Amino acid sequence: MKLSEQLFPHNREWADGIKSVDPTFFSRLAHQQAPEYLWIGCSDSRVPANEIVGMLPGELFVHRNVANLVVQYDFNCLSVIQYAVDVLRVRHVIVCGHYGCGGVKAAMSSGKHGLIDNWLHSIKHTQALYRDELEALPDERARLDRLCELNVVRQVRSVAHTTVVQDAWDRRQALSVHGWVYGIDDGLLKDLEVTLDGKSQLDPIYRFED
Ligand code: CO
Repeated sequence: MKLSEQLFPHNREWADGIKSVDPTFFSRLAHQQAPEYLWIGCSDSRVPANEIVGMLPGELFVHRNVANLVVQYDFNCLSVIQYAVDVLRVRHVIVCGHYGCGGVKAAMSSGKHGLIDNWLHSIKHTQALYRDELEALPDERARLDRLCELNVVRQVRSVAHTTVVQDAWDRRQALSVHGWVYGIDDGLLKDLEVTLDGKSQLDPIYRFED
């Protein structure tokens, strides 16, 4: 059986389900998207952005990569942020990590995993930065989960450090950057309460001034 024959019936069922509630849903969306949120999350198949927050197509602009990293020279992620902030004018950027993240776990180990070890490199920096706090935790699982949280905290700052976000704040565009963690074992989100919504909250080292 062709893959399309396997999966397309589910697609048809899904589209019909939405149309049965709202017949013009897709034709309306085809003209315009106006999401209020940009979601930056992990590629992990257990962390599906829209489903977790119960949002329909059109409500969430999404970028996902392994371990939800925001690296200043990743033009893929930066382009998503730029489009979301400058063109779509989203009000909120949500960086959402998850407990038990395989990418964070790989970065914590000294094992070799191939090319991806380069991508995950910045997580080792985070681990080094919070070495004392992490080593004080009782076991490996607790250290991994805390590093998953700390990784999100650093990515929230990383989003805020981009020229795109700082330019938006300079022109007084309302924009908040949030850090959340998702529990793959209970389906629940936790707000890390590290929201940034202005340049004054940034370390001056990372602040751009005119
Ligand atoms: Co992950």
